[in-house]
Amino acid sequence: MILRVEPAVSGLRGEFTPPGDKSISHRALIFSSLAEGQSELSGLLESEDTLATLRACEQLGARVNRSGGKIYIDGTSGVLRPPADRLLEMGNSGTAMRLLAGVLSGQGFDCTLSGDHSLNSRPMGRIVKPLRLMGANIKPTENGTAPLTIKACGGLQAIEYHSPVASAQIKSCVLLAGLYASGVTRVVEPRLSRDHTERMLPAFGVEMPAACSVTGGARLKSNDFSVPADVSSAVFALAAAAMVPDSDITVRKVGLNPTRTGFLRCLEAMGADISILNQSEQGAEPVGDIRLVYRQGLKAIDVPESLVPDMIDEMPLLMALAVTAEGTTRIRGAAELRVKESDRLAVMATGLQLLGISLKEYPDGIDIEGGAVSGGLVDSAGDHRCAMSFAVLGLRASDRVRIRDAEFIATSYPSFRDDLGRLGAPMQTGEQA
Ligand code: S3P
Repeated sequence: MILRVEPAVSGLRGEFTPPGDKSISHRALIFSSLAEGQSELSGLLESEDTLATLRACEQLGARVNRSGGKIYIDGTSGVLRPPADRLLEMGNSGTAMRLLAGVLSGQGFDCTLSGDHSLNSRPMGRIVKPLRLMGANIKPTENGTAPLTIKACGGLQAIEYHSPVASAQIKSCVLLAGLYASGVTRVVEPRLSRDHTERMLPAFGVEMPAACSVTGGARLKSNDFSVPADVSSAVFALAAAAMVPDSDITVRKVGLNPTRTGFLRCLEAMGADISILNQSEQGAEPVGDIRLVYRQGLKAIDVPESLVPDMIDEMPLLMALAVTAEGTTRIRGAAELRVKESDRLAVMATGLQLLGISLKEYPDGIDIEGGAVSGGLVDSAGDHRCAMSFAVLGLRASDRVRIRDAEFIATSYPSFRDDLGRLGAPMQTGEQA
């Protein structure tokens, strides 16, 4: 599918609440499915990725019902049943695959986890290594990728795992396997990655004996859980408003966990006028409304490396935003971008050059010079966040921008086009380039 974006003729204006947070939705589904009793989930994201997790949870024995915009899950009390054909398809979702690999490593049955072409190309050695240290019988392909074959093992042992990467998927995978291991499992990271698992496990009744640790055999209890809106979706409208003169938008009830707000800090450093209003707590997370008023053009920045984990999913958008800033924006310490849903440094570099932008790519980053954006046809390489980042940039182009593989936007943000359209940035889809 092709997404067509015309240059903006007026500022974006209005307010809206984006859909639920993707990371938190995956965890709410998995934790409810492992719990004893019925959980009531509200605000859950229903996108391709989270629906893959929901289907997997059902296949593993959780019972799912919908009513009045909420999802009710009858948990399994931690006793999962083998899925049909011993196979779970995780689509495009790395979070679903890596978190469920942790859970399945502790079960008494064999199961294979597979995904689409993109997911089956991503590195799984990073979870296979700690799971094997715990005694799991898990096998990736020769290239260290999915499909992952997990066989019943004689029981897991707890470990203290020093992860080489600040990755919430590795951390959560190990902690979830730790629920089925004998002893206390602990994860130490080089730098704190998003900490939703640590915040949410206690909300589902799991006591953590120390920071980032679980005791084997701990039981999850059902919970009525409300998912905050996804800051990683909110940022697209905010970036659009920061680029288009005369904009004034408010994005409501957004999760403001400090491990997720690096992009907002960069936007401010680039000169955007952002205010946070109505701060409160929801689902073990800080939330608030974010207002952005366009006052001036943006300035380039050197993105602090320490902020990269706090905005890892927003990097493609930051690259698009950098194009509209005066000067050269420098990003380093972001090699992880090469193993996301696509090689995000390469995909963004190729698309931005096609739109007339000067840049220099590095193994772990990129320098981007602000400048005029021309129209053209760019390839999002099946990557939802690259597709939406190019779409936002199209609002500042001199001519129509068209984006290939736009159907992948439904991976994380099915209402992207509707939300941007209501703010005054209509975008059209079609099959023809
Ligand atoms: C996620 C963690 C991050 C992020 C992904 C969601 C999670 O991945 O990029 O979109 O929900 O745990 P890494 O753990 O690989 O950094």
